[in-house]
Amino acid sequence: NDMLQWQRTGFHFQPPRNWMNDPNGPLWYKGLYHLFYQYNPDSAVWGNITWGHAVSRDLVHWAHLPLAMVPDHWYDLRGVWTGSATILPTGQIVMLYTGSTNESVQVQNLAVPADPSDPLLKTWVKSDSNPVLAPPPGIGPKDFRDPTTAWYDPSDGTWKFAVGSKDGSHAGIVIVYRTPDFVRYELVPGLLHRVPGTGMWECVDFFPVAVAEGPEAAEGMEASAAAGPGVRHVLKASMDDDRHDYYAIGTYDAGTNTWQPEDERMDVGIGLRYDWGMFYASKTFYDPARRRRVLWGWIGEADSEYADVLKGWASLQAVPRTVLFDTKTRSNLLQWPVEEVEKLRMSNKNFSGITIDAGSVFPLNITRATQLDIEAEFEIEEEALAMMVKADVGYNCSTGGGAAGRGMLGPFGLLVLANERLSERTAVYFYIARGIDGNLRTHFCHDELRSSRANDIIKRVVGSTVPVLDGERLSVRILVDHSIVESFAQGGRTCITSRVYPTEAIYGATKVFLFNNATSASVTARSLTIWEMDSTFNHPYST
Ligand code: FRU
Repeated sequence: NDMLQWQRTGFHFQPPRNWMNDPNGPLWYKGLYHLFYQYNPDSAVWGNITWGHAVSRDLVHWAHLPLAMVPDHWYDLRGVWTGSATILPTGQIVMLYTGSTNESVQVQNLAVPADPSDPLLKTWVKSDSNPVLAPPPGIGPKDFRDPTTAWYDPSDGTWKFAVGSKDGSHAGIVIVYRTPDFVRYELVPGLLHRVPGTGMWECVDFFPVAVAEGPEAAEGMEASAAAGPGVRHVLKASMDDDRHDYYAIGTYDAGTNTWQPEDERMDVGIGLRYDWGMFYASKTFYDPARRRRVLWGWIGEADSEYADVLKGWASLQAVPRTVLFDTKTRSNLLQWPVEEVEKLRMSNKNFSGITIDAGSVFPLNITRATQLDIEAEFEIEEEALAMMVKADVGYNCSTGGGAAGRGMLGPFGLLVLANERLSERTAVYFYIARGIDGNLRTHFCHDELRSSRANDIIKRVVGSTVPVLDGERLSVRILVDHSIVESFAQGGRTCITSRVYPTEAIYGATKVFLFNNATSASVTARSLTIWEMDSTFNHPYST
């Protein structure tokens, strides 16, 4: 039916049909970006997991290729699960992935391209020595998965990689292995990290970022880049217990196999979030063509399994994001849609200078508001800021009443995927409040509560605080694509992704509005540009 049909996206990565989950083994090779992904070729629910495969010249337009790997050996019969690519200095690609064996034991396997001269890397050969790793002593047979990209350690001449797990007391842990040749493997003593109470760590990612001011900070780093004063390592874990991706920035010492998170206030040592909405099982790779680190993330569905079966597909990949260290705050990463996304921008409209009075809504005249790229900067009346006394102490997105909960300086922002009478809308907004320490704090949130009139959908208010430095305006970038809204506040310090399922705000009825639900401050959109976005028409593979 029309409504379900409309939910398919125009410029996000999706297989032509059926179920998808984690991004796997992303890499750049001979001029092409490759994306593999967890895929059920038979239905729109998880199961029978194989590796789907697609290639692209620009990370935006994709051609779907035949399945790269299917369960066809005892060591991956119950699923070819998540894995990562490593490109050796010789140019050779090694793919490490988890197999769920015929007895559902999680083991690590190795595969290589059958024909390295084929830029499409269509055929993969599984190693005769598989499985190369079985769960070590003390680790449960179902708690050992998702090997990372390997990095080279010149001090002992080995490649190292990490595998996520949990220990007997429900602590999330990261186990490191080393191998000189991807034939012989050895457990590295100790754990790279352990956080009590967090349960199974899936899809661990571990990569260096440049932290010194200067041009290097604007570039990504290769996995094997040497540690040094201008380098920190990011550790990311996808926590199965609460289904979010957490990270921290820290210092890695290969010699002692330790990684020390910078911010000890995070009692768990890995308390930052990539995204406050739906975003899971993510993985980065280094793109040598554009010298950047790119992040892929799996965006699941918030509708019912029944609806997924009806529509015949489930899940998207988030728009790939570049990842950099934030040299201004020095406490977080910056995530931003890869620049190629801007090639999809078509006609734009400029709404700069519009002032929205407290308690009002302002319609923005966009013909086709189902695929948008929005950039906005807001300014609040000076007097209102000065008058902010003790209001809203302890505010947070999830308890603040969403876009309807009014305070002195918020909420204000945009309503996207909205219909004319606003019976459906997804709110993307800022809310300024005082923290318990007395300082002003900016919150950035998505309110999904009115995003759809359908009731078999998970709808929440999500978000967090976002650092705003002296002299900075509040800024947001929003990508809207049918059933997904991805927002990046303050250049990507805080990100939120929502899946939403309008029933009325669809096709020509989709609109976008500015809103200001503050009680006493008017807000000006100092700059506001909205682009309609082209579709990528990802085509099935043909020879
Ligand atoms: C994460 C995950 C991985 C596993 C894969 C199976 O979503 O559970 O840990 O390898 O998906 O599809």
